[in-house]
Amino acid sequence: MAKSDTVSLSVIKRLPRYYRFLGELLKSGVNRISSRELAQIMRLTASQIRQDLNCFGGFGQQGYGYNVSALHGEIGNILGLNLGVKTILIGAGNLGRTIATHMDFENKGFDLIGIFDKNSEVIGRRVRGLPIRDVSDLTAFCQQYRPKMAVLCIPKEAAQEIADLLVGLGIRGFWNFSHYDLAVNYDSIVVENVHLGDSLMTLSYRVKDLAEKEAAKEVEQK
Ligand code: NAI
Repeated sequence: MAKSDTVSLSVIKRLPRYYRFLGELLKSGVNRISSRELAQIMRLTASQIRQDLNCFGGFGQQGYGYNVSALHGEIGNILGLNLGVKTILIGAGNLGRTIATHMDFENKGFDLIGIFDKNSEVIGRRVRGLPIRDVSDLTAFCQQYRPKMAVLCIPKEAAQEIADLLVGLGIRGFWNFSHYDLAVNYDSIVVENVHLGDSLMTLSYRVKDLAEKEAAKEVEQK
């Protein structure tokens, strides 16, 4: 349980990484870990870990460290991973089908219940055991099943119209791959934008930077 309502987003964004590392420790049979050991594995400082977890009341015991299973479970609860929020995916092209097939929504707090597209060539095919539905059935589907989250895998040009419709139908969270800035138009929704290209460009800079530093070192050594 959070100690206050004002846990910063930067702490929240670190929780999935804690959850992942703790899950791996559990799998390898580790049941107890000190904040120093956890810090070493996660390349953080022990004080950073204590600070992060203190936002939620702290889970460690002086002289004992952390109970890995309990901490893993608590972080899962904080993140709401057992909530099974009803989710739909719009745009069953290459990206949408890949996400629908490979993302383990059910272990991340979501339940994918519907997939939609406008292309008659894909409508009716099945992905992850679900039929791809005609996007013209979206309103009726949402009124019946009341999903709260949508994954957008449609082109940028199509995103605004679909997002307007979905917000009107009660969607409150978007996992947005569409390169369209949704948050600009609505303040009552939450959006996670994913731009794989941004990550790649950051890597490009870092590779370039590394090469430049190595070249400078070589010059120095000559
Ligand atoms: P795609 O062309 O294979 O699939 C797009 C699908 O959206 C098609 O099946 C199309 O029929 C459907 N669609 C278009 N308008 C629609 C509407 N109004 N309602 C329902 N369905 C609609 O394209 P792909 O490769 O799957 O990429 C989808 C989008 O995601 C592209 O715009 C691309 O730029 C973007 N993208 C974003 C990435 C990211 O990291 N955010 C990474 C890769 C692609």
